[in-house]
Amino acid sequence: MTGPESEGSVVRRAVCPGSFDPITNGHLDIISRASRLYDEVYVAVMINKSKKGLLEVDERLDLIRQVTAEYGNVRVEAFHGLLVDFCKQRDIPAIVKGLRAVSDFDYELQMAQMNIGLSGVETLFVPTNPTYSFLSSSLVKEVATWGGDVSHLVPPVVLEALNKRLRKD
Ligand code: PNS
Repeated sequence: MTGPESEGSVVRRAVCPGSFDPITNGHLDIISRASRLYDEVYVAVMINKSKKGLLEVDERLDLIRQVTAEYGNVRVEAFHGLLVDFCKQRDIPAIVKGLRAVSDFDYELQMAQMNIGLSGVETLFVPTNPTYSFLSSSLVKEVATWGGDVSHLVPPVVLEALNKRLRKD
């Protein structure tokens, strides 16, 4: 065995969960910061069957893998179920979430309290870079659907996938 576990120290793992439909520069900012704080960062694409996404889950995974490859310690997986079960199965003690504004806080606090109550998994909030405080996947999709320019809000490969998908419909 090589790496931190072989030296008797604990591998520090965290997860950045979301729908990532699509991943935006705001998500990427949080994932890159988490990747500097933890040994291993999982990006969990949580599957919500009642929410029809724009991009297929496999396409989201592929895009996230491409744009996080440079960090070197990020693993990308899809999961259908409770986030705490994803964490339990992979021995992940911490969830990292970005907070864009106070308006995010109420719901995020509820989820954090539910998750720690269910399983003891902690949630750590990271303040979003103010450049992205207005940014969401939903807004990106809406603006792109009507032909607006989102090239400064998503990585180039994501822009390409978004345009391809929107031109198809
Ligand atoms: O990008 P999103 O859609 O805002 O992310 C929300 C997400 C996927 C992180 C949240 O809905 C979630 O954790 N879903 C997994 C199911 C679950 O564990 N639900 C209980 C949350 S307390």
